Order: sequence, then structure tokens, then C-alpha cells
Amino acid sequence: MATGDIVREQWATRFGFILAAVGSAVGLGNIWRFPFQVGQEGGSAFLLMYFFFILLIGLPAMLVEFTVGRRTALSPIGALREVGGGAWKYVGALFVLIGFVILSYYSVVAGWVLRYFVGSFTGAYMDEPGEYFLDIATGLDAVLFHAAFLAITVGIVAFGIQRGIELAVKLMVPAIIAIMLGLAIYAATLAEVGEAYSYYLSPDVEVLQDDWRSIVPAAAGQAFFTLSLGMGVMITYASYLGEDRNLAEDSGVIIAFDTGIAFLTGLIVFPILFAAGIGAADPGAGAIFVALAGAFAEIQGGTIIGILFFGMFAVAALSSAISLLEVVVSNVIDEYGIDRSTAATAIGGGIFLLGVPVALFADANNEPIMVDLYDILAAEILLVTGGILLMILVGWIYAEQALDELRKGIGDLGALGEVWIWMVRVPVIVVLIVSLYLAVTGYWAFLTTDFADFLGM
Ligand code: PFF
Repeated sequence: MATGDIVREQWATRFGFILAAVGSAVGLGNIWRFPFQVGQEGGSAFLLMYFFFILLIGLPAMLVEFTVGRRTALSPIGALREVGGGAWKYVGALFVLIGFVILSYYSVVAGWVLRYFVGSFTGAYMDEPGEYFLDIATGLDAVLFHAAFLAITVGIVAFGIQRGIELAVKLMVPAIIAIMLGLAIYAATLAEVGEAYSYYLSPDVEVLQDDWRSIVPAAAGQAFFTLSLGMGVMITYASYLGEDRNLAEDSGVIIAFDTGIAFLTGLIVFPILFAAGIGAADPGAGAIFVALAGAFAEIQGGTIIGILFFGMFAVAALSSAISLLEVVVSNVIDEYGIDRSTAATAIGGGIFLLGVPVALFADANNEPIMVDLYDILAAEILLVTGGILLMILVGWIYAEQALDELRKGIGDLGALGEVWIWMVRVPVIVVLIVSLYLAVTGYWAFLTTDFADFLGM
């Protein structure tokens, strides 16, 4: 396998694997998407559902991907061909498509991050945080920053300098946690903190009852998105792994980091938005940007903290973007035998074009309208579909081998192994199918209302 050989060397230590997996998991999903989803889906009710999905679906699903990856030591198309045979290889093709779609808008949002990073040096965003976001989110500049971010990602994947990224991730994770803890402490001193915490933290059953039809698919989509599940990234990463690793323990560490960073983001964003008199749901996709720009304008040393924060944020996005592109590129290399840099460049070009509408079009309020169109499709529909198919395959066709694989590095699983397979077989699949159904109906409603309005239909 053309790609495998380079990376396989690098997972010599458990640390390397965990870092890469954390690098993929922690990204825009935690810092941008999570607070935006919480805001849109009614606060604490969403948070509760999200925790539920992380533990009851995310953990078993991650184990599914890890066992398949390590057992087959192949990238997703090959792995699925070996595990399921026949038509299952088309699921691998679905993964490639998902990676393509996600990266196309992921890179636009990451372009915003780059733009804020640049703006940190001059304080460009500090005067009118809300306006600034709307100004830069769409338009020619947004296209350029999208192109710049994607070019960096393609460069890294083409030349295979993952080592540099590993180093960056090693520095990034502690640094980002330190900065965020500092910001969370700052946020805790704001006058409106009580109101914000109660919005974010005290579960509101009524909201859940009223809005579960949108909260359930949003939380499931967020769980898959944030943990990089449903499109084979974790299959690929585990394919480079030795048999002595305890996959359950590693999953626990990765999930703890990822969930911790998202949770912390909420502790920062909501007090700041409430203190600024902005409703939690108002800035939508701009929530994190508007909140932080406002905070950095207020606090001492805001310029430096801004530079550090947005710098880290860009690296976090980059290490996830690399994993997205890697799935597409490595599969194309394996299937068609194209060389790596040609594949990365050509695919990068295609992804760029697909992202251009996201960077260009705004609605009447100047909000970026296409982000939702791509993002809901990707997270709530495509990733969840990928997840369901993988669960069916492993739960019903490959259970014995998967259990056997999980046992390696752990030893006797006791009843837990059976519990895992049983969870995958029925409850996880059923919950995901319900969630997918709700997502599709919700998406249809979005297309025929908000989006149709935008199109002037
Ligand atoms: N998990 C990444 C994030 O939270 O930003 C995004 C992502 C990466 C999603 C890889 C899916 C994926 F396969």
C-alpha cells in the first residue's frame, strides 16, 4: 500500500497513534461546530443528548473502526472488501465521497480561522466583532483563504511530512488546553456567567421534549463528526497499529480529550456571548469567532492571546483536514495506482471547487448560507449513514473476528465484549436509523424553506 508504508513506521509508539487520532478528532468540530450546535439546538438539552451519543454510540463505533482497521491492516476500501466482500467495497467509495464533501466546507471555515489569525496581529476584528465576521465569512477573501488552507493541507498530504504535524499536535494539544482553561476562567468572572451556565449546563427536559426531532440528529451528527467516525479515518489509523495496544483504553483517552475540549469551548463561548448581550443562537456559524473577538478586545494581552489561540486553532483544523484528505487520497492511490502528489493535487482542486459556493454565497443578512447545506448533509446524513453500514457489517457479519481483535492487547474481556457486540447489533443501529430518518426529514424541510427562500423560490 503506497501510503501505508510511510505512516506505518510512525505508529511505533502508542503515543504516535493516539496523537494522530486526537489530531484528527480535535478540530473545527470541537471549537467551531460544537458551540454553534449547542446554540442552535437549545443549550443544555443538546449537551445532554450529545454526551449520551458520545458514550453510547461514539465509543462502540470507535471500537468498530479500530478493530476493522487493525485486523485488516488496510485502508477502508480494501478493508471493507476483505471484511464483507462484494458490494461492501462500495461503502469504501461512500467514505471517499464523504471525505470530499466534508473537506470542501471544512476548508472554508478553516479559512475563516486563518483570516482571524492574520487579523489578530492588527486587531482587525476587535472593533465590531459581529460585523467583522459577516464581512469576512463570504466573498472573494473567503475564497482566497479557503484556497490557502487547502493548499497547505494538500502540500502536507502530497509530501507526506506527517512528522511535522505530529510535532505540531504534540505542542498544540497541551497549548490549546492551557489557553482554553485560561479563557474559561476569564469567562467565569463575567457578570452573566450564572445565566450562561444555566443555559449550557442545567438540563431542560422541556426543550428536549419539544425539540427532540432536531436535537437527536444534531447530537448524533456532532458525535460522529467530532470523533472523526463514519468515514474510515479511524479504520485507516488503526491499520498501522500493533496488536499489543489496548483499543478500549486508547478509545477512552481519545474520547476524553475530544469531549473535554468541546465542553471547555462551551464554558468560554456562552458566558462571553451572554455578557455581550448577544443571544446564544444569534451568531450561528460565527458563534466562536464573535465571542472570542469580543473577549480578546476586552482582556489584557488580548492581542497576544488572540494570535496564540487562532494559531492553535488553525493547527487543530489542519491536523483534522489532513486526515480527511488522506482518506480520499490513499483510497484513490490504492484503487487507481496514481502517484501521491498528482492525486493530492487533483483531488485538492476538486475539493476547492466544491467549496467555492460555501465561501461565496450569503443570505439577506449576510450570513453564510451554504455552510448549513453542506454541514448538515455531511454530519447528520452522510457520516451517520457510513456509521450504520459499518455497525451492520461488524455487528452482524464480522462479530467474532472483531471480538477476537479487541481481545488482543486486553486479554479476557469478560461479558464486556458481548455487551459491546450486542450494543452494536441492535440499540446502536436502531438509534442511528431513527436519527438518520429525522435528519433526512429535517434536511428536506431546510431545503424547502430557508434554502428555497434564499434561492428566491
Ligand atoms: N473530527 C474533526 C473535527 O472535529 O474537526 C472533523 C473530521 C475529521 C470529521 C475527520 C470526520 C473525519 F473523518
